[in-house]
Amino acid sequence: MDKQTIIESFAEQSHPDVLQMFDRSSLEELVAKHETPFMVLDLSEIDYQYKSLQAALPGVKLFYALKALSHPELIKRLKSLGSNFDLATIGEVELVESLGIKGDQCIHTHPIKKDKEIQRALDFGCNRFVVDNMAEMKKFIKYAGKVELIIRVSFRSKQAVVDLSRKFGCALEELPQLVELAQKNGIEVVGLSFHVGSQSLSPMTQSNAIRASVAAMKVMNSVNWKFLDIGGSFPVSYQETVLPIDDFCAPLMEALSELPEGIEVFAEPGRFISAPSMIEVVSVVGKAKRGARTWYYLDDGVYGGFSGQMFDHASYPLAPLKPFDALGEFLPSVLAGPTCDSIDVVAEDIELPEMQIGDILIGKQMGAYTIASATEFNYYPKPKVVVVEDIFDPETEAL
Ligand SMILES: Cc1ncc(COP(=O)(O)O)c(C=O)c1O
Repeated sequence: MDKQTIIESFAEQSHPDVLQMFDRSSLEELVAKHETPFMVLDLSEIDYQYKSLQAALPGVKLFYALKALSHPELIKRLKSLGSNFDLATIGEVELVESLGIKGDQCIHTHPIKKDKEIQRALDFGCNRFVVDNMAEMKKFIKYAGKVELIIRVSFRSKQAVVDLSRKFGCALEELPQLVELAQKNGIEVVGLSFHVGSQSLSPMTQSNAIRASVAAMKVMNSVNWKFLDIGGSFPVSYQETVLPIDDFCAPLMEALSELPEGIEVFAEPGRFISAPSMIEVVSVVGKAKRGARTWYYLDDGVYGGFSGQMFDHASYPLAPLKPFDALGEFLPSVLAGPTCDSIDVVAEDIELPEMQIGDILIGKQMGAYTIASATEFNYYPKPKVVVVEDIFDPETEAL
């Protein structure tokens, strides 16, 4: 069965088994070797996702957004695949620099920066920055001649799970005054960008944003436009099934065909590249019958690897490692994290077969915005990351 058929078959089952038979045997070997909780980073998934997105967006230059997951092995793999990188902080600059990535393979996309952050990125050799307001544009007056600026425009998106245009991006009508300020001070504006929101469930906002950006570029013909950056947003299937990436990108490619010759297109994918690359392995450490439901206490929760449930509004597919048919009837259950806080609940109103202390559960699609935002609240350490090459390969060894 190919990946898309598996995803579609889940949607039809009343208790979808997110772990297929072939997942279980290789996972059992990893569980025997590592103490829970731990996450498994499968580098072959990075290859698959990167190549799928590049095939769906031919000619578009991909800048992986480090914020989603910045494990050095993932970055090294993307570097070997020819990826570029989207950076937002000094920490991210220093991480890619330490891995031999060059400044001209990167863009700095944070719309709000301290001067020392601009300086550090320039020292690294990254000279393309994003701005979205007059105060930020003024910070670049002293760097005129040394930087190329991309202006971020806001296109609100109600259908995206995380609407990033609420916080960043100028209105289209503000573009002329930003360009005028830049030109008056000899600052080179070279592109427009937008990010319609993460986990976008429809490509329409993004394709409309492309068309609006193309129109704005044509009107502002005093600018030597070199780039259009269409942001991230490319969705993955969590509990819900999303459009296959080719179908999601087809309307974007159609809108991009209206771009004037010679303008290069960038994208900043984070979630799409990294989400499917990690699973989390946790154990049941406690069990209590409370009212009609059984509460299972796990050794990691929303303060750790499941932090994306709080910050990223994600709900991960979860299943016991034991085959469903060995476990019996499905009963109303709650999965709770280990900390002393009552908000630390991973899944409520979930139906699960009866489990025992020591049983293992697996969370899937846990590579993006999970460990990246995990804390060590209550002094629980963050789950360690085990790196493998292909989790479905029976010969799998941790790298
Ligand atoms: C500026 C910027 N670029 C790219 C991304 C990555 O977006 P996604 O994970 O939706 O691909 C984000 C996410 O917050 C972002 O803020």
